[in-house]
Amino acid sequence: MNSNTKIYIAGHRGMVGSAIWRALEAKGYSNLIGKTSAELDLRSQEAVADFFFTEKPDVVIDAAARVGGILANNNYPYQFLMENMQIQNNLIDYSLKADVQKFIFLGSSCIYPKMAPQPLKEEYLLTGPLETTNEWYAIAKITGVKACEAIRKQFGKDYISLMPTNLYGPHDNFDLTSSHVLPAMIRKFHEAKQLPVVSDQLSVVGDKKNDFSEDLPVTLWGSGTPMREFLFVEDLADAVVFALENKFQDNLYNVGTGIDLTIKELAELIQKTVGHTGEIVWDSSKPDGTPRKLMDVSKMEQAGWKAKVGLVEGIQRTYQWFLENQESFKEVKI
Ligand SMILES: NC(=O)c1ccc[n+]([C@@H]2O[C@H](COP(=O)([O-])OP(=O)(O)OC[C@H]3O[C@@H](n4cnc5c(N)ncnc54)[C@H](OP(=O)(O)O)[C@@H]3O)[C@@H](O)[C@H]2O)c1
Repeated sequence: MNSNTKIYIAGHRGMVGSAIWRALEAKGYSNLIGKTSAELDLRSQEAVADFFFTEKPDVVIDAAARVGGILANNNYPYQFLMENMQIQNNLIDYSLKADVQKFIFLGSSCIYPKMAPQPLKEEYLLTGPLETTNEWYAIAKITGVKACEAIRKQFGKDYISLMPTNLYGPHDNFDLTSSHVLPAMIRKFHEAKQLPVVSDQLSVVGDKKNDFSEDLPVTLWGSGTPMREFLFVEDLADAVVFALENKFQDNLYNVGTGIDLTIKELAELIQKTVGHTGEIVWDSSKPDGTPRKLMDVSKMEQAGWKAKVGLVEGIQRTYQWFLENQESFKEVKI
């Protein structure tokens, strides 16, 4: 790797891809390629073949995928399975055919069996049934991990798979119909926050309590007891750069903080960051999902990489980004 190595970041406008782009630029890599889905539809084998033989990248990072929460997975099982397989099959296969030396495939912790022991170790892959709510997506991702492993085994090329835990950060999806839990909470708490009421009648004799209307309650799904782990997306980007610059011994590595908290603790942290003072209502008629999901990150730590950004700082930076960019997704209604 040098500053002129030609690096193609598939999905460079997404939350993950854009963070990787910024991290590479910051380290002086100046030969980066990115294509939007309108410019290059990665589901098309022909278009991907053309792109690879024309551009001839040295390195490929696959951060392109159809992603979404439980609702989106449940409503579009075919697209979650098929489009993700098409995207990654084309990228992996044409990387091999175009002699790309290093390939980084990004998956997610949902590849591990639902009842696997916690924390999740890489070796638990394919040892039991998957969580049914997102099995379409998980099966597609597992085939990507296996394709990279097969290339590594058969052709000796440095193709690796990084499995990040739940991510959050700048450029996250704040649309409440398809977002993940953390950005959804940021938006809900923010929108439930009432603006100060400036009224002559209310602001007399300095009765501060009456100067502000009370914040609206926020209703959240489930009981709040499940435990989850969250990684700031810039930490993942840092891990990807580390993986590019170092030769790994194996195919599959978890990327996370190794620390989890309850959804209730997460809600309170976000509520505090946003400055919401109303009530939190837990709708226990809604499902909780898996009780605990924590990555074992010791393999990545042994390889020499560790997460750096704590949850308090990460949520503050994400909320700041939300405030600066909320106009761009205002049209998406709750
Ligand atoms: N978000 C998380 O919490 C999380 C956690 C673990 C792992 N990951 C993994 O990280 C990767 C990226 O996720 P993300 O959160 O960054 O998603 P994202 O913000 O939705 O970005 C996805 C990107 O994929 C591109 N894309 C989708 N379909 C495409 C197609 N047919 N042709 C070309 N490009 C296409 C999009 O391009 P355009 O913008 O040009 O349409 C977009 O840039 C995924 O593999 C995901 O599994 C994410």
